[in-house]
Amino acid sequence: MNYSLFRSLLFRLDPEQAHHLTLGLLRCGGDFAPTRALLRAMFEVNDPRLLVEAFGVQFKNPVGLAAGYDKNGIAVRGLNALGFGHIEVGTVTLRPQPGNPRPRIFRIPESNALINRMGFPSDGVDALKLARTDARIGVNIGKNKETPLERAADEYCELLRHMHSQADYVAINVSSPNTPGLRQLQSREAIRDLLRAVVATRNQLSPRVPLLVKIAPDLNDAEIDDVLSAIRDAGVDGVIATNTTLSRDGVSNRVNETGGLSGAPLRVRATQVIRYIAERTDGKLPIIGVGGIARARDAIEKLNAGAHLIQVYTGLVYRGPGLAREINRALLSR
Ligand code: FNR
Repeated sequence: MNYSLFRSLLFRLDPEQAHHLTLGLLRCGGDFAPTRALLRAMFEVNDPRLLVEAFGVQFKNPVGLAAGYDKNGIAVRGLNALGFGHIEVGTVTLRPQPGNPRPRIFRIPESNALINRMGFPSDGVDALKLARTDARIGVNIGKNKETPLERAADEYCELLRHMHSQADYVAINVSSPNTPGLRQLQSREAIRDLLRAVVATRNQLSPRVPLLVKIAPDLNDAEIDDVLSAIRDAGVDGVIATNTTLSRDGVSNRVNETGGLSGAPLRVRATQVIRYIAERTDGKLPIIGVGGIARARDAIEKLNAGAHLIQVYTGLVYRGPGLAREINRALLSR
């Protein structure tokens, strides 16, 4: 099917309505065996040369879906059928919460970008019932809005205890710009204490689940160094770079909304952060690269900068369901 036609219909809807419609279609398409088989036949690229191992986990290919698309993990089967090697569900919070008032997602089509200030709408961790597929599942966790920062570490530990058995890895989200104070958890002492506490909890759980930290693109080099030293000190397994940005470089100011910017204008900065981390860690710390990937060459740019796996979100909105296939095919013909 021609995505540009479907997209022009979708883009007539409010962005969040359009999102719920596509997620609903993916949920139905994935839960119904014949449509699931059809989607798999259309979009999956199965080839052992695409296999990747990172932080002790095997992935069928390096292309993943970034957090925020399937916040409650309701469409994992359908998303798997689009050919993703991993799906990061969430951000999930401990208790259900509604997030910010709508509207809270904005399209900037001329920049191939989105601004969002969702603020972690979540059904809460106890509602999470994830289907098992051949895609690996990351669960991205964040604190509830009302939880004071001093209690954040306890809450991340509690979240981990609730969902670790459903996750192939857990992403500790300290970088969303839409939960007041959250990004302060990236500062030197806060991140050290947080990661020590979460790793200590993880070490009591079985089976062992890899922990990754998701960081903002707006940290400077010294701030990234602080996060890396906390990662090393605590024994965290990897990093996800990056979340959305507060910068508005490279976007028209027609859409002057508060929130995190994603998509094409984020691409270069996210790649810089990945390259910096890869250099500082001699390529030894597993990195999931995300930010502004809209075509195969953008994915290859991230991999060449040092990412072991990559993720997409905004590119999927603008380019459609064939994006993982396009990237996987290009990786095979490299
Ligand atoms: C996001 N992103 C996100 N990240 C996260 O860790 N938890 C979340 O809940 C969300 N929610 C979310 C909602 C929306 C509408 C968007 C567009 C993005 C950030 C996302 O996972 C990714 O890091 C950035 O969007 C950058 O990648 P792209 O979109 O440029 O490919």
